Amino acid sequence: MKSNPADYTDLDPEKLPAHVAIIMDGNGRWAKKRLVNRVKGHEKGTNTVRTMVRTSRELGISTLTLYAFSTENWQRSKMEIAGLMALLKKFLKSEQKEMLENDIRLNAIGEIDRLPKGVQQELQNTMNITKNNSGMLLTLALSYGGRSEIVKMVREIALAAKTGQIGPDSITPELIARHLYTKDMPDPDILIRTGGEMRISNFLLWQIAYSEIFVTNTLWPDFSKEEYVQILKAFQGRERRFGKTES
Ligand code: IPE
Ligand code: IPE
Ligand code: MG
Repeated sequence: MKSNPADYTDLDPEKLPAHVAIIMDGNGRWAKKRLVNRVKGHEKGTNTVRTMVRTSRELGISTLTLYAFSTENWQRSKMEIAGLMALLKKFLKSEQKEMLENDIRLNAIGEIDRLPKGVQQELQNTMNITKNNSGMLLTLALSYGGRSEIVKMVREIALAAKTGQIGPDSITPELIARHLYTKDMPDPDILIRTGGEMRISNFLLWQIAYSEIFVTNTLWPDFSKEEYVQILKAFQGRERRFGKTES
């Protein structure tokens, strides 16, 4: 029988990644190709977000982290930022029901207090109503920057040192991880970037130390469930050595 690339049965349920992180890139180029406003690309991109959340949940992935807006993205035009924020608010409202039905808990990481008040309220509201869900943790990285996260961590640790709570020897990788936004999550097993750029763009700098990286040229609005499953299959074929020799 010819194998269907979207066929979940091809995936080994024992070897699924616990944490998938995605840099959702290419909405602007998708819009440009069609001679429409960039915000139209972001709008189309929210459909892909819905599909990826659903598929990840169906597969039984326990943690999905999506890079939706970076600290650097504040430098875009007022119009594009306003369009993105409006879409985010709309998305949160429209997905609440599905998150509840599918046992998904919403979480947000980044400088959340920089977001417009209305967005912060909708985020808080969605996080509250989903807080007891445990099927999948969906984290949106919003106004997120890996360097700003590291600065926050260093400040917290410096304060603990200054007040005598810890000494230099207490500073370990585990302590550092406990001061990051991702303190309760495993590190990403996979980092996927759509849109073809071979770069990290300030995403999860500490946490991706040993993530398997997949970059696809597909633009985020065109990214499909089939391609996602193909990437997961390729992940299952990779040997993760973590610096050791092959087993
Ligand atoms: C990613 O798409 C979404 C955000 C960064 C908010 P882009 O808007 O960066 O799309 P391109 O890279 O310009 O195509
Ligand atoms: C990365 O995409 C940020 C998000 C996907 C939210 P960018 O489009 O902002 O990254 P660069 O500018 O290509 O590095
Ligand atoms: Mg981009």
